[in-house]
Amino acid sequence: MNEALPFSTPDNGTFRIALYPGTFDPITNGHIDIIKRGLHLFDRIIITVAVNVQKTPLFSLEQRCAMIRECFQGQEDRIEVGATDGLIVEYALQHGARAIIRGLRAISDFDYEFQLALMNRRLEREVETVFLMTGFRWIYISSSGIKNAARCHGNITGLVPKHVERALQEKFA
Ligand code: COA
Repeated sequence: MNEALPFSTPDNGTFRIALYPGTFDPITNGHIDIIKRGLHLFDRIIITVAVNVQKTPLFSLEQRCAMIRECFQGQEDRIEVGATDGLIVEYALQHGARAIIRGLRAISDFDYEFQLALMNRRLEREVETVFLMTGFRWIYISSSGIKNAARCHGNITGLVPKHVERALQEKFA
């Protein structure tokens, strides 16, 4: 599946590229907060829709990528959206990224993220994982929690961008 990314340039030491991988089913305001803050540290972020074999997404890969693209319209010089069903570290190297950004919400995330980071390091030592603390406003949200609320027609305004809110409402109409 490894989509070609027209904007990627190899990391020549002055241009810092990071990957922000996830399932993004769908992207939330918590993810967007991490991406915006990541842009203070990196020149370009490749938001990478990846496969977690334990999840069955509600939205197709194309829908998830399109929703992410809509969030960052006009910022294509710094934000790319890609997808892979392969190893994240391989995708990172192929696109000149030496860092993987992950957001940490609470202690409960730590165990899982620690294992993921160590496994990625075991697979490829050239790629570092960088953790950003999730913004306090978003500490309690997850894609699943938002989907569950939307499924029961709960109010999810302010937790996801408007177009994502509409997509969820259509799914559960
Ligand atoms: N705001 C809101 N929610 C957040 C968040 C934030 N800042 N940070 C994390 N989350 C939530 C997500 O919404 C998601 O919620 P959900 O479980 O309800 O869907 C959850 O935290 C974590 O999901 P995500 O960040 O999408 O990660 P993941 O565990 O689904 O997937 C991959 C992680 C895809 C990066 C990982 O499976 C992977 O690397 N796969 C590729 C294969 C590979 O390389 N494997 C080797 C490594 S072991």
